[in-house]
Amino acid sequence: MSLWRFAWCGRVSQRARRVGARARHFRSLGLATALALVGVASAGTAPIPQIVKQNGRYVLEVDGAPFLMLAAQVNNSSNWPAMLPKVWPAIGRLHANTVEVPIAWEQIEPREGELDFSFLDTLLAQAREQRVRLVLLWFATWKNNGPSYAPEWVKLHNERFPRVIDAKGRVWNSLSPNFEATLTADRKAFVALVRHLQSVDAERTVLMIQVENETGVYGAVRDHSSTAEALFAARVPREIAKAFDQRSGSWAQVFGKDADEFFQAYSIAHFVEQVAAAGKAVYPLPMYVNVALRDPFKDQDPSQYSSGGPTWNVLHVWKAAAPSIDAIGPDIYFHDYRSYTHTLEQYGRADNPLFVPETSNDPAGARFFFEVVGRGGLGFAPFGMDFTGYFNFPLGAARLDDETLEAFARNYELVSPMMRELAALNRLGKVWGAAEPADTHVQHIVLGGRWQVEVSYGRGVFGNGEAKGNPTLRGGVLLAELGPDEYLVTGYDARVTFERAQPGSSRFMIARAEEGRYEHGKWIFERLWNGDQTDWGLNFTGLRQVLRVRLADY
Ligand code: DGJ
Repeated sequence: MSLWRFAWCGRVSQRARRVGARARHFRSLGLATALALVGVASAGTAPIPQIVKQNGRYVLEVDGAPFLMLAAQVNNSSNWPAMLPKVWPAIGRLHANTVEVPIAWEQIEPREGELDFSFLDTLLAQAREQRVRLVLLWFATWKNNGPSYAPEWVKLHNERFPRVIDAKGRVWNSLSPNFEATLTADRKAFVALVRHLQSVDAERTVLMIQVENETGVYGAVRDHSSTAEALFAARVPREIAKAFDQRSGSWAQVFGKDADEFFQAYSIAHFVEQVAAAGKAVYPLPMYVNVALRDPFKDQDPSQYSSGGPTWNVLHVWKAAAPSIDAIGPDIYFHDYRSYTHTLEQYGRADNPLFVPETSNDPAGARFFFEVVGRGGLGFAPFGMDFTGYFNFPLGAARLDDETLEAFARNYELVSPMMRELAALNRLGKVWGAAEPADTHVQHIVLGGRWQVEVSYGRGVFGNGEAKGNPTLRGGVLLAELGPDEYLVTGYDARVTFERAQPGSSRFMIARAEEGRYEHGKWIFERLWNGDQTDWGLNFTGLRQVLRVRLADY
């Protein structure tokens, strides 16, 4: 029997819809009333983290206020108590405020029905000692397309938990999303995990949960089992017809050449939706999925990438099928500026908050942090940030050496003291960022209001030398509008020069450029920049420097 047809599916999604509607209703009532009504958090507990959409922009609220995840993800096998002493020193060096850690299905339910949350308990206790927040990664039916993190009672029993069969009858190492037994088992374990978390995390150490990891199937485009074939031949489900101009008919009739991939995307998204909705019904934490990306520009054969995962060409399918998923986050291992920033555009949409849950820890990748924050990103997380001795080179760095750590640490150290201010300004659309490209050394950013800036790289701090680019790709800037004609400006290895956004009088100047820092939400003045320090633009080197700049006409 197909899982789409089961009565209980309808019950779960109706319940999820009710929870969603309730959540919307509660938002309009205000948080305090909402918590009292839900009865989830008793008096004295912190508000549940949530992603809030306002005026078309998103913000993650933690402890009731905007929060920017300066995150890091550990290696794939660092989810054991014995590894944690090798995790925290790296996280400390990075100045990260959030750590992403796998919770494996095989770890919490090694034998069917026997639950073990000891790792989660240890992780929570140690994260609190370290004063960092967590994102849990639910490695279950999918971990990079395969079920390697599922318990043996699942991953070795094809009959009960069938794998994907391609059009030629070949069996692939990916579990089919079309079987009820797999969904039931995964969802049951996930709900148990979330229920346990809800009972032990009044502090809200855990900010979000990633449901599965890089879903999709490599090799095949979709499952061709008889169960899948029957679903494929049936009419497309109502939510899909609705999202696609009420088109109706079979998958092949509605989607033609895209039918196989869209069917697989729907099947996986619908599975993930039911896991996430059931978890949220117990504890409504933000939940997201991550993506094994396809080429951001070219058309590709879906058998060449993780078919059915939320790649850019099927985002509309995922959005229609998985409304309980709050964000779809790209895992960005591209090294070139165009692919990286194009991916940020593809995933930072009006209907999707931007969040980069994984990115290369190559030192040159650190500068993309500025692009992510400048586009309203909820967070950024280089992958493989622990001292367990494994390196995913050439995706990431060849070693987690001082140079690599410092490339990421300096960004987090710069932004940590003002991460809540930046997140709050981002909600208003008042933050911009740029990272150094390889093929041009001058960029322009149009700011709100009357101004734009020229950002240039590798021209020294004195005089008007040619912008040659930095010896390594490491430049980046952040700007935020604090008020009319007033901006927060910071960055590394870059020159920022203010210009008029519209051609007009050149009679303007920097009236005041204060260097200082934020401490507990207050700006602390240190000195004024003037003379050489402002005559040649605002020059940022490797030093941690933050400016408040006021512009004026004369
Ligand atoms: C992306 C996956 O999501 C990660 O878990 C990891 O396997 C990296 N690829 C490669 O190191």
